[in-house]
Amino acid sequence: MSELSLSQVSTGYGRIQILHDIDLRVGDGEIVTIVGANGAGKTTLLRVISGLIGIWGGTVTFKGRSLSRSSVEARAGLGLVQIPEGRQLFGSMTVEENLELGAYCRRRDGRPFLEKRDEVFTLFPRLGERRRQQAGTLSGGEQQMLAIGRALMAEPEMLLLDEPSMGLAPLLVKEIFTTLRELNSRGLGMLLVEQDARIALKLADRGMVMERGRVVLEDKASALLDNPEVQAIYFGQHGGGGGSRTENE
Ligand SMILES: Nc1ncnc2c1ncn2[C@@H]1O[C@H](COP(=O)(O)OP(=O)(O)O)[C@@H](O)[C@H]1O
Ligand SMILES: [Mg+2]
Repeated sequence: MSELSLSQVSTGYGRIQILHDIDLRVGDGEIVTIVGANGAGKTTLLRVISGLIGIWGGTVTFKGRSLSRSSVEARAGLGLVQIPEGRQLFGSMTVEENLELGAYCRRRDGRPFLEKRDEVFTLFPRLGERRRQQAGTLSGGEQQMLAIGRALMAEPEMLLLDEPSMGLAPLLVKEIFTTLRELNSRGLGMLLVEQDARIALKLADRGMVMERGRVVLEDKASALLDNPEVQAIYFGQHGGGGGSRTENE
């Protein structure tokens, strides 16, 4: 069972505490979304789960194992893989080389590189067509596809996604989310962080609302979609007061 579970997690930067007592569970093959305004602590939450920053208190477990002492690579090796905010591709390397780097943390019992690469190209034919193009010259949508593809090379069992819709035109956001749905239907679990609450809640099974480092509301995604308070604060304008968005297409 690829279940992720957080109990009373706290962390921060320097001496400043950002996350307070976070409890969270993402079941095997489930999609849980965290919505919240800019600065609520969503990225920090993903970082503490993937191991990019240390934990101050509480526990993170995946597949029943405590991760407190595991490196980022060890967590990826267990199948817990983060797609960072802003994609963070290697811009001067080609599409294919970025995929190779994604396979670096592959599992010991993993399938061969070429097989996984071709699967990514089947999922995103545009990446196949551009396999020798430098990642930095791809459009915003293609870069997000590559960021997802690179994560898939590690054969994840649970994806941690940080704002996949960021900076993309609506049509591309739709395309990316259709792909996420397809991946989920194959059994991939996801913890999805989004400022675009509406599209995230439409995809997810359950949702949580974060404000200033705390979970303030938690429900089935469909119930949060119908919740007038959530609608008033997080729908309409992107991000409920977050930064402006650019169309990168
Ligand atoms: N590397 C860092 N050093 C110090 N403070 C940070 C750092 N990254 C984020 N913060 C602070 O942590 C808080 C939460 O940020 P973040 O997790 O990025 O929120 P979100 O992803 O919800 O926009 C903000 O107040 C932000 O300024
Ligand atoms: Mg963020």
